[in-house]
Amino acid sequence: MKIWQKNIDVDALVETFTVGNDRVLDMQLAAADVLGSLAHTKMLNSIGLLDREDLDAVQQELKLIYREILDGRFIIEDTVEDVHSQIEMLLTQRIGEAGKKIHAGRSRNDQVLVDLKLYFRSEIQRLVSLIEGLFRQLIRLSEANKQVLLPGYTHLQIAMPSSFGLWFGAYAESLVDDLELLKSAWKVCNKNPLGSAAGYGASFPLDRTMTTTLLGFDDLNYNVVYAQMGRGKTERILAQGMSAVAATLAKFAMDVCLYINQNFGFISFPAHLTTGSSIMPHKKNPDVFELVRARCNKIQALPNEIALMTTNLPSGYHRDLQLLKENLFPAFQSLAECLEITTFMLDYIIVKENILDDPKYDYLFSVEVVNNEVLKGVPFREAYRNIGEAIENGTFQPQREVHHTHEGSIGNLCNDQIERMFEDVKAAFHFERVETALAELLS
Ligand code: ARG
Repeated sequence: MKIWQKNIDVDALVETFTVGNDRVLDMQLAAADVLGSLAHTKMLNSIGLLDREDLDAVQQELKLIYREILDGRFIIEDTVEDVHSQIEMLLTQRIGEAGKKIHAGRSRNDQVLVDLKLYFRSEIQRLVSLIEGLFRQLIRLSEANKQVLLPGYTHLQIAMPSSFGLWFGAYAESLVDDLELLKSAWKVCNKNPLGSAAGYGASFPLDRTMTTTLLGFDDLNYNVVYAQMGRGKTERILAQGMSAVAATLAKFAMDVCLYINQNFGFISFPAHLTTGSSIMPHKKNPDVFELVRARCNKIQALPNEIALMTTNLPSGYHRDLQLLKENLFPAFQSLAECLEITTFMLDYIIVKENILDDPKYDYLFSVEVVNNEVLKGVPFREAYRNIGEAIENGTFQPQREVHHTHEGSIGNLCNDQIERMFEDVKAAFHFERVETALAELLS
């Protein structure tokens, strides 16, 4: 029996098709759905639509259901359409009449909107903590290997001296900017759509500011039509943030695959972290990083997928939106696993010392030699030509010393400043406000 069922039975094929995989995905929204109902019902009581006794019964039972969800004892039955229906049905079965009152002033459209935002907030928080783990790991490795030089490439041709300090630190700083995007996504997620009902509000004097405070949102999506338009848009913005993180990880994974290759041979991993071949007995393959690269490239397709699914939808709710869950939800887990495994692998990375002693890297120092001439008073263009000629006629003498001291260079990595930027952007999330509000709502 559906919550919207009147006196016609929906065809079984239509039923199966419209539900699709939604029950499975909705399980991830269950905890959020309870939180939304806890706030909505308190608000209904405050405007006189749910009396004290009913409110107490509803609140108590919702908290029990919340426990069941956390303990893995909650299911969405095959005969029930979605998580929203399941929770309302459980309430009505267990506490009777009061359960039937809670949907006043609400639609599943704003219910799923608020569920998604609450769920996205908790997934963002999980990602930020994993990003922080990787960030700290990269800074640690940058500091530990700041003296170890590495060839720098442009066009994949040897270019100028670089270092492991710069390489690791570059990816740490990249994560800072990715976090800026994720913070924007967080801000978008942190506005309350509840109270927009089916997308056009309700004739009750709903106190939307109250549910905003109860759920720890920063602010509201004020316009009820816009609140509904946020479905799809929120997902796309969040996917852009995740995509930025994924791009950093994919590029890093590509560097690792390149540097581990015998023709480069700059880094290695212990054998137990590599994989073998069924035919070639010598193989130690970097499958982990290849899969990080592929998974993260897949995540970078998300903003496009979501855009294609939503771009030409007019305002108002459409069932199309249900399908966005299929694209986005698995990506949280995949990105989290990529962050975890990368952080784990870096515990074991072995960097090669004295790479630049090999004469094949002589020309890495050509700019260094030119700059030394400039310091002695030779105009740059003239010094450049002199050294160019020496290279052509084979008299070039490399000077294997690097004197870079400006900000962010080999001799001055600025990791302290990069860490400061990270702290600043992380602090701007104010996770503690959300945690306090939700703990209060559940107390
Ligand atoms: N499963 C639905 C979704 O994700 C829930 C909202 C249903 N609303 C509706 N009007 N059919 O979109």
